[in-house]
Amino acid sequence: MNSGKGTPCTSSATEGIFRGKSDDLNQRKSVRAHIKTVASRVRFKTSKMVIGAPILLAAFVFSPVFTPAQAQEQQPAFPILPSGPGKETLVKICGSCHSPDNVALHGQSREDWQATLAKMVGYGMSASDEELNEVLDYLAKNFPKPPPAKINVNKATAVELELGLGISSKQAKALVEYRTKKGNFKSLDDLRKVPDIDNKKVIENKDRLIY
Ligand code: HEC
Repeated sequence: MNSGKGTPCTSSATEGIFRGKSDDLNQRKSVRAHIKTVASRVRFKTSKMVIGAPILLAAFVFSPVFTPAQAQEQQPAFPILPSGPGKETLVKICGSCHSPDNVALHGQSREDWQATLAKMVGYGMSASDEELNEVLDYLAKNFPKPPPAKINVNKATAVELELGLGISSKQAKALVEYRTKKGNFKSLDDLRKVPDIDNKKVIENKDRLIY
């Protein structure tokens, strides 16, 4: 094998060897440095896993898999659900697929609750008509449709005015233009001065308007 190494015949060859050696050394150094960074990353990861594992375990242990018997043991069960007729039935019939307190995020009209219950029956929920009616009453009473958000007519953007008031984008832009030129609206009458504004829509929404 004539690799050139160990045959220092000419100065250039010697240089070559030295360069080769130092390159080698540098390479080894950088490999070592790399191993160190990788090792520290691995250590970092491990420490994360060490912290993460109990959290995962806890999440698993406390996940909302429960039986009605457990629900009775933990008092109060699902505190976000106001107590009252229908709550127990809700926990019993809805809780087999998902946490029954997801209803708290879905405030809606009685008709819409009825549609949601029909959808759940479609997913395979088993419940008697009596139970369904009881739960419907509970949901309609405790989780009604939230009141529509207020709109600040002096701060809302054209898009917010369009969506919030249900007016055309042209009208919304006209409102913003008018406001920019003439200053803040102070009353419903001010709004109605805007050319081409849909008075009916504005009046319909008058209780939601903030000046
Ligand atoms: C057989 C299983 C099952 C049962 C029992 C069940 N659900 Fe569901 N529920 C689902 C599934 C699946 C989804 C997710 C649907 C989706 O992502 O579109 C869901 C989603 C929901 C949602 C989220 C909004 C929506 O309409 O998708 C609400 C609210 C809800 N369920 C309420 C209830 C109520 C109230 C009950 C008891 C009366 C109930 N569920 C019982 C399967 C069930």
